[in-house]
Amino acid sequence: MATFFEEESHTFSEYLLVPGYSSADNVAANVSLKTPLVRFARGEEPQITLNVPMVSAIMQSVSGPKLAVALAQQGGLSFIYGSQSIADEAAMVREVKSYKAGFVVSDSTLTPEMTLDDVVELLGRTGHSTMPVTEDGTPHGRLCGIVTSRDYRLSRDPRDRRVREFMTPFDKLVVADDATSLKAANDLIWDKKLNALPIVGAGRRLVALVFRKDYDSHKSQPNELLDQHKRYLVGAGINTRDYAERVSALVEAGADVLCIDSSEGYSEWQRRTLAWVRARYGTSMRVGAGNVVDAEGFRFLADSGADFVKVGIGGGSICITREQKGIGRGQASALIDVCRARDEYFDETGTYVPVCSDGGIVYDYHMTLALAMGADFMMLGRYFARFDESPTNRVSVNGQYMKEYWGEGSARARNWQRYDLGGDKKSLSFVEGVDSYVPYAGPLKEGVEGSLLKVKSTMCNCGALDLPELREKAKITLVSSTSLVEGGAHDVVLKDANQQVSINFRS
Ligand code: IMP
Repeated sequence: MATFFEEESHTFSEYLLVPGYSSADNVAANVSLKTPLVRFARGEEPQITLNVPMVSAIMQSVSGPKLAVALAQQGGLSFIYGSQSIADEAAMVREVKSYKAGFVVSDSTLTPEMTLDDVVELLGRTGHSTMPVTEDGTPHGRLCGIVTSRDYRLSRDPRDRRVREFMTPFDKLVVADDATSLKAANDLIWDKKLNALPIVGAGRRLVALVFRKDYDSHKSQPNELLDQHKRYLVGAGINTRDYAERVSALVEAGADVLCIDSSEGYSEWQRRTLAWVRARYGTSMRVGAGNVVDAEGFRFLADSGADFVKVGIGGGSICITREQKGIGRGQASALIDVCRARDEYFDETGTYVPVCSDGGIVYDYHMTLALAMGADFMMLGRYFARFDESPTNRVSVNGQYMKEYWGEGSARARNWQRYDLGGDKKSLSFVEGVDSYVPYAGPLKEGVEGSLLKVKSTMCNCGALDLPELREKAKITLVSSTSLVEGGAHDVVLKDANQQVSINFRS
């Protein structure tokens, strides 16, 4: 006879937090969001601790090197997507590990033969008005000049005007060589009254740009997540098929932690992969596993050596797994069940295996709920896809800026098949995800700071100054569908129909 779970399964929107006593110390500035990323024994410190409880989803449309740097600067961690060739994934990891703060790799694709039309298109796509022009349009090509908004007038200049005619050519630019320190670059920027300084290597090869504005912003990154060599921490996704080659390449590239990326983690394939990594690297390389949605799945992965366990099937915003396959569980119920299992496991074995709540976070308060329900940290896809730093294009749809966001099980990503069935089953005959747009939300820094301020403020309402205290003190109630209506603006006529959305969402 099948096993029936007695309770219905619920999701975050069906819960609220009931405030507890807050003392005068309960102010956002006193709240710590530090949290363990990987397993540790009672009384020991985890090998990796996040400064904020956020990791970015292992997805093509989310976790590239730019987002990884921006998130590590805020204290979280990205997992570079594994649905690409081993060499490309390792190169992305290397790019993060060799990132020099303040030195920005160009995203301009301009060549001298392009036109003002191309400039306008590029500006719309990237939002960046300083555009290096290289001979072949690549970020490290031979530098020919720079275009800024001061070089053209849209109201007057013909759109087919060539870039070479209006760019500031190389011989008129102030540039610095690639041995220049950030401090020296900044001094030059001030002395010469520049907005941006190109850093140029041998053969006039463009290395990076240093911007006036970045020097100051770099100084205010109190949470940044660094390794002992002061490089940003970065994770990488792996699968259960080519791990022997992929893991070695990622370790060599400098990845700090790995995660098996699959919608279904309770499998022999994951056990084998975990065992292989452990046998080869011991505890010098940490690896998370998942996804599971119940205590049994958690215990299996914890016993198999997973360094953290990811929870969630079917709750992702672009996910249609539940509709396609009928598997999954409401994210909140799955999380509560797994976190209980984690605590029992800790009591029994003295080993703490952190739990990651993966997918389904829509409102900022869902983050606070996930943490109160026991998540050590959260994995977010849609949330990060909206920011400037995600690897996708910004496009204008009906006059509104959007970013593209597609599932790893969608037709668009499927040639790489995240939906890892293990063994040699390389292709799926149906999709488990969709291709979509999400509203553009500006720079990651501002978005994350805004969301986490709300999380900290709610923690204060619960009388908690850190995450263990939140878990202990949180009082959580289920809400009826009628109280859900009561929770939004109701029985009034909104003056601006967009208000409700901007209050609750897209923080
Ligand atoms: P979101 O934060 O709600 O957008 O969910 C992101 C999560 O959805 C990821 O971390 C994955 O676990 C999951 N996911 C990614 N791609 C797919 C897909 O194509 N189908 C189902 N789930 C997906």
